Amino acid sequence: MVIFENVRKVYDDGTVAVNNLNLEIKEGEFVVLIGPSGCGKTTTLKMVNRLEECTAGKIYVDGNDITTVDPVKLRRGIGYVIQQIALMPHLSVAENIGIVPRLHKWEKNKIDKRVDELLEMAGLNPAQYKYRLPDQLSGGQQQRIGVLRALAVEPRVVLMDEPFGALDPISRDRLQNELLELQKKLKKTIIFVTHDIDEALKLADRIVIMRQGRVEQIDTPSELKNNPVNDFVKAFIGEERLAKISPEAPIDIIIEEPGLKVLPDTKASLVLNHLEDIGPESAQVVDRNGKWLGMAIVPDIKKVAKLGGYIKEAVRLERKLYIEEATLRDAAEMLADRDLPVPILDENNIFLGVVTHNGIARLTISRLQRKIS
Ligand SMILES: Nc1ncnc2c1ncn2[C@@H]1O[C@H](COP(=O)(O)OP(=O)(O)OP(=O)(O)O)[C@@H](O)[C@H]1O
Ligand SMILES: [Mg+2]
Repeated sequence: MVIFENVRKVYDDGTVAVNNLNLEIKEGEFVVLIGPSGCGKTTTLKMVNRLEECTAGKIYVDGNDITTVDPVKLRRGIGYVIQQIALMPHLSVAENIGIVPRLHKWEKNKIDKRVDELLEMAGLNPAQYKYRLPDQLSGGQQQRIGVLRALAVEPRVVLMDEPFGALDPISRDRLQNELLELQKKLKKTIIFVTHDIDEALKLADRIVIMRQGRVEQIDTPSELKNNPVNDFVKAFIGEERLAKISPEAPIDIIIEEPGLKVLPDTKASLVLNHLEDIGPESAQVVDRNGKWLGMAIVPDIKKVAKLGGYIKEAVRLERKLYIEEATLRDAAEMLADRDLPVPILDENNIFLGVVTHNGIARLTISRLQRKIS
């Protein structure tokens, strides 16, 4: 139903987001993509409905090479729940859910009925919620509406990008069950992205574990649990194994994308503006070949910006860890010392990502949760 053939995506700035993906998803199959932040999950979904074009390779949906299908037509046949819910703020809940049915020129009555049916399915009383605007809903409710919107016209393929990420555990569990029920009845082909291995194990027919644009393993949940192909996969599954991660474990599993990554010849003033817009206190300076040239922090960038200089003049080189030798303990100690991300490099000084307080906190939380349950 959906086939990825040697698919590769390189963004304009040289970021290799997806690296030679091969995956054949059968009709009615529920496939879950999972992996650390920045490993290419969203990009993979976006290529299916051509919000991003593949740099190389081919994707087939329902037997058709998607580059031969009109993108607008293609998208109408594919439900998409995007990572940031993005409901239309000026449209009511009912109008938001009805967007795609209207594009399909459904009659008003049919749309109304479908909206009610979907809201009930998601545990939201239609009379109460239908006419509200998105900002009159909680985050979790908005997320549910996003899911309903994607299911409205019963597309045969549904792409879901962390659809339950912002839900409380109870709603999450309930919607997961509903999705499974629905899947039994409707047999859609679903590609679902999550960070939560328990969610993946519960929902998936097959799980694709990704890291840095590559696939580490594609298997059924039980195969993954019984036969993980490497330590990285092991770290992702198996509650016991995760609970046993020691402070001496490698840092792979908590590497994430930096808040800002810039080329060395970027004007310092530009970087400063950017940082002010998006919030982080530092930028990683990386050349076109992926080589790390240092990290720049706001006070230094300000000084250089005042002189009209470039970001490469503001970098510091001391703070970094090498992936082969660093442990979680090393990362935690550096972070405890100073609240700034720690860049992670390979032996050739290629920049792999950063480790932050958040990563350590997430790890701690998942350990705590697993111990309790
Ligand atoms: N428009 C873009 N231009 C350049 N690089 C991009 C663009 N969009 C994404 N990337 C980069 O591509 C890589 C993969 O991004 P993607 O959004 O697919 O990750 P993800 O696995 O969905 O992460 P997350 O779990 O954080 O949502 C990242 O390194 C990201 O920074
Ligand atoms: Mg994503």
